[in-house]
Amino acid sequence: MTGLRAVPVGVGSYLPARVVTNDELAKTVDTTHEWIVERTGIHRRHIAAEGEMTSDLALNAAERALEMAEIGIGEIDLIVVATATPDQTFPSTATRVQDHLGMRHGFAFDVQAVCSGFVYALSVATQFIETGKARGAIVIGAETFSRILDWSDRATCVLFGDGAGALVLRGETGTGSTDDRGVLSTELRSDGAHNASLYVDGGPSTTGLAGHLRMNGREVFKHAVRNLAEIGEAALASANLSPADVRWVVPHQANARIIESTARKIGVEMDRVIVTVQDHANTSAASIPLALDVAVRDGRIRRGDLLLLEAMGGGFTWGGAAMRW
Ligand code: UT7
Repeated sequence: MTGLRAVPVGVGSYLPARVVTNDELAKTVDTTHEWIVERTGIHRRHIAAEGEMTSDLALNAAERALEMAEIGIGEIDLIVVATATPDQTFPSTATRVQDHLGMRHGFAFDVQAVCSGFVYALSVATQFIETGKARGAIVIGAETFSRILDWSDRATCVLFGDGAGALVLRGETGTGSTDDRGVLSTELRSDGAHNASLYVDGGPSTTGLAGHLRMNGREVFKHAVRNLAEIGEAALASANLSPADVRWVVPHQANARIIESTARKIGVEMDRVIVTVQDHANTSAASIPLALDVAVRDGRIRRGDLLLLEAMGGGFTWGGAAMRW
């Protein structure tokens, strides 16, 4: 059965200039480089400059992705920004990016699924492309988590960083087989019973302030590996694929131990997993497109490779996608 596929044609990312090492954090909170590396795999993170907003990071990433795609903004009908740290309560960060790109047609909106946001946004954009409602889309994950961290809480402030990644998708007719390039399946899940394990203690309708991130790390960890392995396997199964078909797993980058345990559970060796958590820390919705961009530009991910994306975050939300590059 032929039909439209959402085919990746460009990827780009952007990291703020300022790099903060673990040793630098150890000067302000009771922690050590050794503890952070052993428990998380994180060595450093990028932190946005004063006045540098989520939309600025998103715009830079989008411009780089459009440059690789070699297509004009006229061929893009949809911008979806996955973010939990928008510039403002409203308007959406996506419409700000739309404005900065000079796009005066189509439609743009934000998706909020915290760390799973990029997979959610990819799934949404794929539906619009497959139904012909959008010819092309830019899917962006962009975050400035540094703005919602409690910098006196060592259990959370060492874990996150800022950044953005963007993927340009174009509708192309496929054959309907798993040999097609493009998004082959997406699977999304959530369970609101776990709201209290990972949340921000503020917002427009509660405190009227942006608030700070609060996390029961152990509780999140406990669910993460099981949920991520389950969703990865589900995304493959719904496309009639198996872990043996996967060339690269591109996981959400929260913690090296979660990434390794999930890969083991799915049955994929670590030499087929893209890991950037050491350099970026957890950039929430930005982590998957950031990792994708690194691995495409350094030549590991090549045209035709089957990718498995998986992520989990606050809510809980989790999601997986199978995509042929
Ligand atoms: O993107 C999705 C959202 N996030 C995640 O996926 C994160 C999931 N969770 C994790 O990655 C891990 O649970 C953490 C990295 C957050 C913590 O690792 P852990 O091995 O689960 O440590 P823990 O929370 O059980 O804490 C162990 C000890 C505690 O001390 P006591 O109670 O044993 O005396 C903490 O107080 O480590 C202490 N600790 C620290 N020590 C030095 C917590 N944070 C730090 C720190 N430096 N930064």
